[in-house]
Amino acid sequence: MQVPYVTLNDGYRMPFFGLGTYSLKGDEAEAAIEYAIDIGYRHFDTAYLYNNEKEVGNAVRKKINDGTVKREDLFITTKLNLKTHHESIVIVSCKESLRRLGLDYVDLFLIHSPVSLKETDDNEKVLPSDIDYIETWRGMEECKRLGLARSIGVSNFNSEQIERLISAAKIKPVNNQIEVTLNLNQKSLIQFCKNHDITVTGYSPLGKPNKRPHIKDLWQHPKVQDLSKKYNKTPAQISLRFVLQMGAAPIPKSSSKTRIMENFDVFDFNFSDEEMNALQDIGSGDRVVPLNELKDAKYYPFNIA
Ligand SMILES: NC(=O)c1ccc[n+]([C@@H]2O[C@H](COP(=O)([O-])OP(=O)(O)OC[C@H]3O[C@@H](n4cnc5c(N)ncnc54)[C@H](OP(=O)(O)O)[C@@H]3O)[C@@H](O)[C@H]2O)c1
Repeated sequence: MQVPYVTLNDGYRMPFFGLGTYSLKGDEAEAAIEYAIDIGYRHFDTAYLYNNEKEVGNAVRKKINDGTVKREDLFITTKLNLKTHHESIVIVSCKESLRRLGLDYVDLFLIHSPVSLKETDDNEKVLPSDIDYIETWRGMEECKRLGLARSIGVSNFNSEQIERLISAAKIKPVNNQIEVTLNLNQKSLIQFCKNHDITVTGYSPLGKPNKRPHIKDLWQHPKVQDLSKKYNKTPAQISLRFVLQMGAAPIPKSSSKTRIMENFDVFDFNFSDEEMNALQDIGSGDRVVPLNELKDAKYYPFNIA
């Protein structure tokens, strides 16, 4: 299967579909990524936070070394540690990610969230800090200049934060990674990003079905069921096709070969405008990842689109 590509505003190309890796660990993570490469996935999404950069790197290097793919065929995204947002330590943090990955560069390095966190003695405790993401961005720009990251972008930023970032930036972000699901279609933020030549990646594109049962319920929705029958696709595939046609690159996570294959099989059908409009009406706007614990933070992003 051939994935569509999008050209980023700095000239690099990004496969418009990838494998999410949150909660993939150990051998299971490596096996999932190797299998995904074998069947044609080229874009992999990790983060410092997922604690699996090592496994992602092992799997990727194995498939490069055995000749299945070349490094330049792959698109690897990682995200900045939320506790290393000071300009002076962003580069150190990026180099540490590269060391864990065992790679010379990442294709895309993202600020994981506009809200950063304070170092605490208790790792479980989440204490937001007021470090301005504009400062963090200067460190990100340096990572690009040094070639540690080919492209740089953001995640979980709202439209005002992107506007403010662009007006201060020397290098424009190429991508905003945000939640896009049947429940939260993100129409206005995707359009806003498009107007600024910023691509969008859609996270939790299946609505994290086993963890957020109220979102999986939409898979039983008559409109989803009708399209599922019409196109002979599963509700998961209907969800992913919806995210694609909303204009976001879906990055579903799965540890199962069957579901990794199923999720990738979404490029041979197309919803009409009418069908897309109908699907855009069924969501409640509820988020899989509301970041409630950061609600009082200075840069909490989800009060506006
Ligand atoms: N930037 C951010 O702040 C942020 C936040 C959240 C997520 N992300 C990224 O986005 C990726 C995807 O989001 P996510 O992991 O939260 O949720 P998701 O991809 O929407 O859902 C993953 C869950 O769905 C199950 N699943 C996968 N394919 C399925 C299918 N065809 N039918 C039924 N169930 C299926 C998986 O279980 P199995 O493994 O058992 O198949 C897993 O439990 C993450 O892994 C991460 O890379 C980024």
